[in-house]
Amino acid sequence: MNKNFYITTPIYYPSAKPHMGHAYSSIIADFFARFKRMDGYDVHFLTGTDEHGLKIQRAAEKDNVDALEFCNNISQTFKDLSKTLNLTNDDFIRTTEIRHKNSVQHLWNELKKKDEIYLSKYSGWYSVSDEAFYNDDEIEEDNGIKTAISSKSPVEWMDEESFFFRLSKWEKPLLKYYKDNPDFIQPKSRRNEVISFVENGLKDLSISRKSFSWGIKVPDNDNHVIYVWLDALTNYISALEYPNTKSKLFEKFWPASVHLIGKDILRFHAVYWPAFLMAANIKLPSKVYGHGWILSGDEKMSKSKGNILDPIEIIEKYGLDPLRYYLVKEVSFGNDGNISKEKLEDCINSDLANNYGNLCQRTISFALKNCNKKIPEEIFFNKEDRKILDNFSNNLEKIRSEIDKQNINYYIDFIVNGLFAANKYFNDQEPWKKKDDPIRLNTIVYTTLEIIRKLSFMLYPIIPESSLKALKIFGINESEIKLSSISDHNFLKPASNINSIDILFKKTEKKDD
Ligand code: ME8
Ligand code: MG
Repeated sequence: MNKNFYITTPIYYPSAKPHMGHAYSSIIADFFARFKRMDGYDVHFLTGTDEHGLKIQRAAEKDNVDALEFCNNISQTFKDLSKTLNLTNDDFIRTTEIRHKNSVQHLWNELKKKDEIYLSKYSGWYSVSDEAFYNDDEIEEDNGIKTAISSKSPVEWMDEESFFFRLSKWEKPLLKYYKDNPDFIQPKSRRNEVISFVENGLKDLSISRKSFSWGIKVPDNDNHVIYVWLDALTNYISALEYPNTKSKLFEKFWPASVHLIGKDILRFHAVYWPAFLMAANIKLPSKVYGHGWILSGDEKMSKSKGNILDPIEIIEKYGLDPLRYYLVKEVSFGNDGNISKEKLEDCINSDLANNYGNLCQRTISFALKNCNKKIPEEIFFNKEDRKILDNFSNNLEKIRSEIDKQNINYYIDFIVNGLFAANKYFNDQEPWKKKDDPIRLNTIVYTTLEIIRKLSFMLYPIIPESSLKALKIFGINESEIKLSSISDHNFLKPASNINSIDILFKKTEKKDD
């Protein structure tokens, strides 16, 4: 069985500092990476910045700085954010790096050799903000300003010599690929959108620009730079050392398991990218998942609209794990979602502080008083104990298969229900009334501690720091977190120490700001 897993985020434009939308994609990708690692996979998790093109060139000009210097600065803020978000990315790629440029030029030459590229002239609409071409029927006019209907970004007329990729030729092979690989584009609603777009007919794609210079040069033609999306998409393989397809990284991790992206850039990933790859005779990624948007009011949060929420501010006020938990739980994965301070505070108070934090505290304080500060030795599971424990072993395969479908909602519901059930179990069993029945008292404590251990393992991909803090109760460290062990009901070693821990989550006072 293939136990390698390669997950990517989009590489973000360093045209402005990161916002909550970027943090969202990155945190979700980190969730999957951590989950797969604790399930025994060898994981490669890639993120980075997409630094070429007119959008970046103009942003740098506006600030009056050299384009590379501009990118160095903002790319660093994205790198810093990955630390702040506690991401476990294995690599951070910048498209201005030499390893990437070589890779892109190599891919260009391959496409050229295979007669997939020809020189002609492009006339049409272009949105610099989206770095995308649009057909007439994708444009609307509002107060004399022409914008793309899908993104609402302004478009400008472009008229210049350009190299073209024979995209039209790949229309039928793409449709066949979607049909033969029904999971390639997820969620399903997005898949249907893509299929109808391709069925409407594909025109050849302009893949070079002549009117500005900030990009990777077309090999043998210094007047042209390579279209920024052909450049950017290649990051997924340049980071695996393409064109060295015999490299360890490439052999192990290509094709990618999941390209996790926002639905705004689905067309590039589900149409152009697979067409480039087919044309170059490179395998296609297994899946492209286009998640929903973090909204601000009813609109997509985006730097061009200026309606952004700074993740750093939220983290400074509430802490990182509450934010991670909120984004995983409250934004129903696949759909759009709002972020409100009120709901975030509710999450902290009810789920994290009450349900999880309190379960840990009351159980260990009872155990410290009544079990000699040790994991109980003499235990005997009855039917009720077995039932609550078996819920984990019985569902282990289901958890795995739902995660392979990116069904985060199933996963978080399982945990929330598990926390409720654990608190209820401890209440109903009333261990404080069992002081004259030490085996029963010990068994209740052991069972509850086992459940805390299992749930903390499951919480690790969502709130890693807090989960590790909780696991200090048992002296368990990160490398010991294995998903498969949620089926083991005797994981905790009898007579080993129980340690007290600090409060996991402080309740937040409701503030009216
Ligand atoms: O498109 N809600 O970069 P970008 C959720 N460089 N996710 C959001 C979001 C929001 N409001 N706003 C942004 C680019 N994102 C290209 C990508 S990939 C080869 C090149 C996330 O800086 C989401 O993942 O505009 C979206 O697809 C991505 O950031 C776009 O980031
Ligand atoms: Mg964007």
